Amino acid sequence: MKLKTAKSAGFCFGVQKAIDAVYHEIEYGQRPIYTFGPIIHNEEVVSELERRGVTVLKTVEEIEQKECGTIIIRSHGVSRKIRERMEQSRLRVVDATCPFVLRIHKYVREYSSQGYYVVIIGDAAHPEVQGIYGWSDPQRTTILSEQEEAEKFTVPKEGRVCIVSQTTFNYNKFQDLVEIISEKGYDRIVLNTICSATEQRQKEAEALSGQVDAMIVIGGKSSSNSRKLFEICSKKCKNTYFIQTKDDLENSTFQRFGYVGITAGASTPNNIIEEVQKYVRNEL
Ligand code: F3S
Repeated sequence: MKLKTAKSAGFCFGVQKAIDAVYHEIEYGQRPIYTFGPIIHNEEVVSELERRGVTVLKTVEEIEQKECGTIIIRSHGVSRKIRERMEQSRLRVVDATCPFVLRIHKYVREYSSQGYYVVIIGDAAHPEVQGIYGWSDPQRTTILSEQEEAEKFTVPKEGRVCIVSQTTFNYNKFQDLVEIISEKGYDRIVLNTICSATEQRQKEAEALSGQVDAMIVIGGKSSSNSRKLFEICSKKCKNTYFIQTKDDLENSTFQRFGYVGITAGASTPNNIIEEVQKYVRNEL
């Protein structure tokens, strides 16, 4: 059996940077160490960090109650209000927001202050999108992810529109939605803020899943970029498996497939990818 793992599988630059920041703080930082939300969408990594004394805080109120320590902002970033409240708390703030996300904060801040209506193409429930929204003017900002929402989108006649995207959004879908909005004839500026790591990973996954007999997508259940990979691969390969670790493959045998492909979301550590490779090769 032939096994191929996509080159772009696993941690992206922003996630690696955030993880490194946490380990740096564990080693040298002012304890106790907290992260605002899980540092990445990966239960194994989060549990390992918990064992090393890192606590996940879920609300700003929890941060405000702490007497001392360090709070780390994860790669998704936070809204302006949350950032300000963190700075006013007694904790030291370490910002591990991915630079690509910080760039989107800057765009929406600048364009909304110039009077543009901001459209964020992305999942409204995702923390990254909520963070971006929090740097824009809420009265003039719309979050959308579906065709019907783009069709319904409207601003006053002379309004100018600035369109940005969640970094992990599907590129083709982004283009479709931009096209629908563009047809309305507004003066608009389109900033494709989809991260190239995501785009690269999605393109590679699409190509690989079109060649193999079975495709494995490794990622956290709550990781949106992993779910999107699964969506893309399922379209090309009917034997596509979405797993968190090799344990989810128990009782699955890959010997009947001639060619198996593997990809993994941005929050999947290398050791988990390696274990899955070994499992598929029957080495475990
Ligand atoms: Fe940053 Fe792109 Fe990763 S935006 S967190 S490098 S997917």
